[in-house]
Amino acid sequence: MEPKSQTSATRKILFLFFLQFFTVMCVFSYIRISKEPGISICLSEMTNNTTIEERAEPKVVILLWTWPFGERFPLDKCDSLLGISGCYFTVNRTLYKKADAVIFHYRDLRSSREELFQEPRFTFQRWVWFNMESPSNLGNLEPLNNLFNVTMSYRQDSDIFTPYGWLELLKEPENFTIPPKSKLVSWVISNWNPNSRRVQYYEELKKHVKVDLFGRVAQPLAKINKYSTISQYKFYLAFENSVHKDYITEKLWDNALLSGTVPIVLGPTRENYERFLPSDAFIHVDDFPSAQELASYLKLLDSDDEQYQRYFKWRGRFQVKGDANWPEWYCKACQYLSQNPFYRITPSVAKWFA
Ligand SMILES: *[C@@H]1O[C@H](CO)[C@@H](O)[C@H](O)[C@H]1NC(C)=O
Ligand SMILES: *[C@@H]1O[C@H](CO)[C@@H](O)[C@H](O)[C@H]1NC(C)=O
Ligand SMILES: *[C@@H]1O[C@H](CO)[C@@H](O)[C@H](O)[C@H]1NC(C)=O
Repeated sequence: MEPKSQTSATRKILFLFFLQFFTVMCVFSYIRISKEPGISICLSEMTNNTTIEERAEPKVVILLWTWPFGERFPLDKCDSLLGISGCYFTVNRTLYKKADAVIFHYRDLRSSREELFQEPRFTFQRWVWFNMESPSNLGNLEPLNNLFNVTMSYRQDSDIFTPYGWLELLKEPENFTIPPKSKLVSWVISNWNPNSRRVQYYEELKKHVKVDLFGRVAQPLAKINKYSTISQYKFYLAFENSVHKDYITEKLWDNALLSGTVPIVLGPTRENYERFLPSDAFIHVDDFPSAQELASYLKLLDSDDEQYQRYFKWRGRFQVKGDANWPEWYCKACQYLSQNPFYRITPSVAKWFA
């Protein structure tokens, strides 16, 4: 009989020990994670399919106010994809009170910005203004003054810099093989505005050199053969829809550079482009007094392989990271928010973002 009662006593002690252990873990993670007094819920209640070990880690809780443009994607891959950890992402607004940061994708907010002013503000909680569109496509930002703490955009001077693409230095120089070319100039355009500078420039350019159009207004280009189509052209019109500092989009990074063609850019100044790219990686429309002179230069390069190939020299040293995407951008937010847990205010997004 003795051994049995001993066993049950041991079990009791073990049970009490574990109970205490979990209580301590729970309180500990509560203290580290929830800074709002009066909410005594352990974070582990929020995460259903994580292990105890993971639950015990203090994590920055980041609420996505909306999915950007309603697009959904996994948000638990920051660690495996980019080696960034330390965040718990959620889209569940019930957790608003416990969120260390709330990311507002601005374009999803415009129709219902009033709703923001009704949310209580907690002193610990940071609001992130996230936007990838240019000021021309946004309208008046003044009503959003004194709301946000952190900015997140393609602008290099954002708190969280989320570019459309970038170059990575190769560990070893590589020989880049220029894809075979049989045609001269292409352009994929979906948003045709006859009054825009880019359409007017195209109208002038096409008088002097043949430009093949793709996209909504011309021949639809299925995503699947985008690269193989554009790569057959020596040049690609990477024309931005509006001209703003640092506004250099997937038109350059993805369409042109990942296709292995030479971008002809229309956007911010050459100097601005050169902050992101070597000077010999692109042709700028501003390099020429007129579209006609640009056309002459393109014809010259067409007849001179050696000169044309100079536009690929930089590729021996750099790799193009041209398809930056939502999950990566949100992971960058995790990195910033977990490493910079500071008080910060951005009094006027409108004044800065112009
Ligand atoms: C949101 O979180 C609350 C509280 O944890 C939970 O009760 C609810 O089921 C969640 N909603 C969704 C859609 O996951
Ligand atoms: C690149 O090409 C050069 C000249 O053809 C050659 O000497 C060199 O070994 C090549 N490098 C690589 C990494 O293939
Ligand atoms: C965030 O910004 C708001 C509004 O400017 C401010 O009241 C709050 O103290 C800031 N919080 C943090 C943590 O920076």
